[in-house]
Amino acid sequence: MKVMIIGCGGIAPAHIEGYLHAGEGATIAFLADQNTDRARALIEKYGLKDAAAIADYHEGLGKVDVVSICTPPGLHREMAVAALESGCHVLLEKPMAPSLAECDEIIAAAQKHGRLLSVVVQSRYITSIRNVIDMVKSGAYGRNLYSRVHSVWYRGESYYYLDWRGRWVVEGGGCTLNHSIHHIDLLLWAKGMPASIRAFMTNLNHHNSQEEDFSSALLQYTDGSVAEITSSLISHGEQQQLTFQMEKAGVCIPFQAHASKARDNGFPEPDEETAAAVRADYESRPKLVLENHDGQVKNFLRAINKSEPLIATAQDGRNCIELITGIYQSAITRQEVIFPIGPDSAYYTSAWRESAPHFFEKSTEVAAFADTTITNFKNKF
Ligand SMILES: NC(=O)c1ccc[n+]([C@@H]2O[C@H](COP(=O)([O-])OP(=O)(O)OC[C@H]3O[C@@H](n4cnc5c(N)ncnc54)[C@H](O)[C@@H]3O)[C@@H](O)[C@H]2O)c1
Repeated sequence: MKVMIIGCGGIAPAHIEGYLHAGEGATIAFLADQNTDRARALIEKYGLKDAAAIADYHEGLGKVDVVSICTPPGLHREMAVAALESGCHVLLEKPMAPSLAECDEIIAAAQKHGRLLSVVVQSRYITSIRNVIDMVKSGAYGRNLYSRVHSVWYRGESYYYLDWRGRWVVEGGGCTLNHSIHHIDLLLWAKGMPASIRAFMTNLNHHNSQEEDFSSALLQYTDGSVAEITSSLISHGEQQQLTFQMEKAGVCIPFQAHASKARDNGFPEPDEETAAAVRADYESRPKLVLENHDGQVKNFLRAINKSEPLIATAQDGRNCIELITGIYQSAITRQEVIFPIGPDSAYYTSAWRESAPHFFEKSTEVAAFADTTITNFKNKF
């Protein structure tokens, strides 16, 4: 399979390494970026002797089988649809697209042309995460009553100097759409879509961004269970955690297991036996050979070859956008949002972003940073 990667900035190396490590015989044929110096630099860095640097990705369409899209979110729909229409399978960076209308256009193109589309959620390909989610889904520890997503990150003021960041109509949103989406996907993987959501958002300390750098949401499911999502960009040390409280035990990512039992008067004491059983269950589960982007690229290539099912589907990518749209809608209208958000909703397209509240105005802008390396999410769990 011949591959084109569109967008040669911060996340592109993870895709290149994914194709190189996957061992599925894929060859990188084009690196497309309007800034061709970036494409050339990556060709040199990875010794990609079969690859050409091109400025316009259209030149590569029709000559490749697979396209990885690593450009800013506002370009995802246009590029994904063009690649699918040219007969390519597409691995699309998160977020799938800023609006549900755009996601549906991408899904329709994939269906019409019979191609696979996977949205990047590399955390699904981390052993410890996958095993905890599987334990929750198994039901072995009773019903999941309450889940908590603490998706807390740290980005400095200059993060929003980059021209495409910090504007509702270009980036699509702040930390909820662009950072917490990794953990929101895991919650949805474990529990599916909730019935309703109530949310709040603000900007605490990013003065060059119109968008939120903090949001908090409370989700209710049809079975009565609840979940909380906290998203932040002001959290020193990025102490991210997902917690799933089930009837018999609670488990966390990064992995921890706790079990309590009640004394006659209802007060708790540790249930060491159950906690030990949960730990043994976790330890007994399989270890993934390839993790993060490497694991997702391999699964994507094997799914194209029909050797295994696709783990992260287009519908999964859309579900994240629907939930996040619900957070924005509820935070702006200060009302509960009931899912699904259909085409008749004012929040189905991106039109609402034109009049979204600006927490601050953008006053400083750079087209690119001299250093495009990003702090890797890889070692977190
Ligand atoms: N999965 C992850 O952990 C992760 C991490 C970072 C970024 N991302 C996502 O990856 C995407 C890109 O983010 P980034 O941080 O790499 O951005 P970036 O700004 O570092 O890189 C984007 C690149 O796209 C190029 N580009 C823009 N318009 C183009 C066009 N029309 N044709 C060709 N190239 C074009 C730019 O020149 C730039 O080199 C975003 O959707 C982002 O949310 C994912």
